[in-house]
Amino acid sequence: MTDLAGGGVVHLDSAAAGRMAPGTIEAIRAHLHREALRGAYVAEEEAGEGLTGLRRDLAGLFGVPDDGVALVESGTTALQALIDSWPLRPGDRVGIAPSEWGPNLEAFEAAGAVCVPLAVDADGAVDTEALRVDLEGLALTLVHVDQVTSHRSLVQPVAELVAACTPAGVPVWVDAAQALGHRELSAGVAAAYATSRKWLRGPRGVGMLAVASEHWDRLRVRPQRKHPGAGPVRLLESGESNVAGRIGLAVAVRDYLAAGPREVESGLDLVGDLTREHLADVPGWSVVLGRGAITALRPTAGQDVSDVRQRLLDQHGILTTASLPWRAPRDPVEPTLRLSPHLDCTLEDLARVAAALR
Ligand SMILES: Cc1ncc(COP(=O)(O)O)c(C=O)c1O
Repeated sequence: MTDLAGGGVVHLDSAAAGRMAPGTIEAIRAHLHREALRGAYVAEEEAGEGLTGLRRDLAGLFGVPDDGVALVESGTTALQALIDSWPLRPGDRVGIAPSEWGPNLEAFEAAGAVCVPLAVDADGAVDTEALRVDLEGLALTLVHVDQVTSHRSLVQPVAELVAACTPAGVPVWVDAAQALGHRELSAGVAAAYATSRKWLRGPRGVGMLAVASEHWDRLRVRPQRKHPGAGPVRLLESGESNVAGRIGLAVAVRDYLAAGPREVESGLDLVGDLTREHLADVPGWSVVLGRGAITALRPTAGQDVSDVRQRLLDQHGILTTASLPWRAPRDPVEPTLRLSPHLDCTLEDLARVAAALR
């Protein structure tokens, strides 16, 4: 795995924050330099084409018009902006899978919404046939799913969910924080949001929200004289922003598009399969099976995953996540060690992890 001129770790932590490519880092550095040389607002104006290109590329990935994307600070900020502007009201019923990201549950509950657990199969994927049958009785305001779950290798059937819910007038919101740059996004969702820093390998501090045009009229957004003619989704952005981060993200997205979303998805599926295969026989650990590039290892000999994560980093230069139950409090998974390698992961890296865990 690229170790950025010798000082880097074996990076198995893309689900937290992926490793930026040198070209992304250089684009950020060059923009910061231009801000100092020419003034921050002038540098932003001069970067106009690149920023427009970023919006166009993201809109294409999310399947919305260019004005349907708001650049915000994070996935969390994006969901909050969506909840506030939709707006979600106390008593609204949000269908969720038990594997739902914990902070999202907290955001829905803080808005007074009721999180309604949907029926799932043995892996935890929403049972879309059962949902079709139950849809009327569940009286859902909307369905919200994480296309890819954070804490284990679980992929939700977003296209099937859209097919089941949309004809019944139930909008589908998608948390694509672990999906964007990892898997192709499904068309037809009412809203989706994600972050730059994970599988796209963009910088921290940039997130995005996309809303399908048929829902723009319902968004409660304050008009701003400073931005006459701006559409409702764009008005969800805050005035100040990390422009250098957006410039870096523009480069990361272009790299992703050049690599090909389908090719990246199958490559990451292979990386995930190889990870699970290589770690299957490591004593004291049980691999949580699934699909995609995120792998959870369950300790079976009483290890503290936070201690193990720290020792892997300090003694072996291997970066992983200690995944604690707050990530998905309704999913029956205890603390795990999470590995989330990207396409640059090598078989030697996996052998090194297996040896370190042994
Ligand atoms: C599934 C999921 N949703 C939402 C988020 C929150 O994104 P952010 O940290 O950008 O607010 C994360 C972050 O790890 C996540 O894994």
